[in-house]
Amino acid sequence: LLKVAVIGAGSSYTPELVEGLLKRVETMPIGELWLVDIEESWWKAEIIYGLTKRMADKVGSKMQIHLTANRADALKDADFVCSQFRAGCLESRIRDERIAAEHGMIAQETNGIVGYANACRTIPVALEIAHEMEVLCPDAWLLNFTNPSGMVTEAILRNSTTKTIGLCNVPVNMERGAMELLDADSDDFFIQIAGLNHLVWARQIIHKNQDKMQFVIDEVLAGNDKMRPQNIAQFSWSEALLKNMNMLPCSYLRYYYASEDILEKEIAKNSQAVNRADVVKAIEEKLFAVYKDENLNEKPKELELRGGQYYSESACKIMNAIHNNTGEIMHVNTINNGAISGLPDDCAVEVSAIIRSSGAHPLSVAAFPEDTLRLLQTMKTFERLTIESAMKGDVETGLRALTINPIVGTGVKLERALKDTLIQNAHQLPQFK
Ligand code: NAD
Ligand code: G6P
Ligand code: MN
Ligand code: MN
Repeated sequence: LLKVAVIGAGSSYTPELVEGLLKRVETMPIGELWLVDIEESWWKAEIIYGLTKRMADKVGSKMQIHLTANRADALKDADFVCSQFRAGCLESRIRDERIAAEHGMIAQETNGIVGYANACRTIPVALEIAHEMEVLCPDAWLLNFTNPSGMVTEAILRNSTTKTIGLCNVPVNMERGAMELLDADSDDFFIQIAGLNHLVWARQIIHKNQDKMQFVIDEVLAGNDKMRPQNIAQFSWSEALLKNMNMLPCSYLRYYYASEDILEKEIAKNSQAVNRADVVKAIEEKLFAVYKDENLNEKPKELELRGGQYYSESACKIMNAIHNNTGEIMHVNTINNGAISGLPDDCAVEVSAIIRSSGAHPLSVAAFPEDTLRLLQTMKTFERLTIESAMKGDVETGLRALTINPIVGTGVKLERALKDTLIQNAHQLPQFK
């Protein structure tokens, strides 16, 4: 029987994960589920714990469920560790998004200056967990959802021997969305994804042995976008830009392809000071009020308002694929090793890969066109400098990272925003002392 640990279990997403685990008892029998959170959010963790027990009881599950603030107890001899914590909790995201907006920058939790701040808070904690796993559960797999997922995964892959795979629901949404547009079933459909986390493109879409890339692009251009996660506002792509691209960008690429358009809207919106994090706060309050209800014993509908919907599908699917050595194809963050040419071998990329007990084995990716490769290289350099800055607590490296990031601006504007970000986060960034 498997032991699964969830770090950051007080997340309002956890019921989705629990539902997925309970559904898979036949192929993936779990003996122990350990929910880990911190004192600060204990009230949330307890509500999730209560709901998890009711969900398990409803289906007659015999899985033992533990709630703890002692991470070592949860990690000891675990088979899978699912990382989904938010360092500094939602308050930090609210603060960072506000700072970005105040400085006339895009307020997005994994991109630009907010993504940089998130990485600086998160990477040291993620590395601490990975290092503990080396000792407490050296055979376990670390499945990382903690954002910024691509950078967190790369930091771990390059600095720890813990077996790690990074995941995201964006490729899952692209796959589901394309299948819906094509009315496809999984056995006659293939989608290949490649790029970096929140910076991916679909490179192939095949249905019944036919190339359907242009069909799907045309549908998306016609406003039939079934792939956009809930956290990204409705928008339309430039037809001129996408028409002949022969690749389908994920919704997050809008921050790069149309950053000026977004900035105009964000700045206009800023007088009301409502960023996505503020919206999430309101959704969360409602969700936890519902979760508390002793009669609730399933995942409520309202969870669909969160952007990470379906993240658990990849979490559960990958645990099953590793545990049963299935060889199915999933879209994951793993070490590049030449899968995408033009990016370093030792960096993390988000690619379609064969999943076996031995881990993720990426499919080879057709060369990216030069303009796209340049963007990928620039953003990978941003990511690597950000990881370095986060690990060393080095402001200058952070400034270099952000200076080349195309969506944050440069010069005095950037230096002011960075200074504000680091000062207001100081209590959560001991490495910058
Ligand atoms: P949240 O604010 O609810 O945080 C989840 C929990 O993490 C909280 O209960 C918090 O107390 C806890 N936490 C903070 N520091 C911790 C630590 N050191 N140890 C253990 N627990 C800790 O966040 P959320 O909005 O539910 O999202 C959770 C995380 O998952 C975030 O990093 C989010 O960005 C990420 N996420 C990623 C994807 C993806 O596609 N990769 C999808 C959904 C969510
Ligand atoms: C997307 C991303 C996640 C991110 C989430 C934000 O689905 O893939 O990485 O955490 O959206 O959603 P939220 O509801 O927190 O704004
Ligand atoms: Mn994601
Ligand atoms: Mn810049």
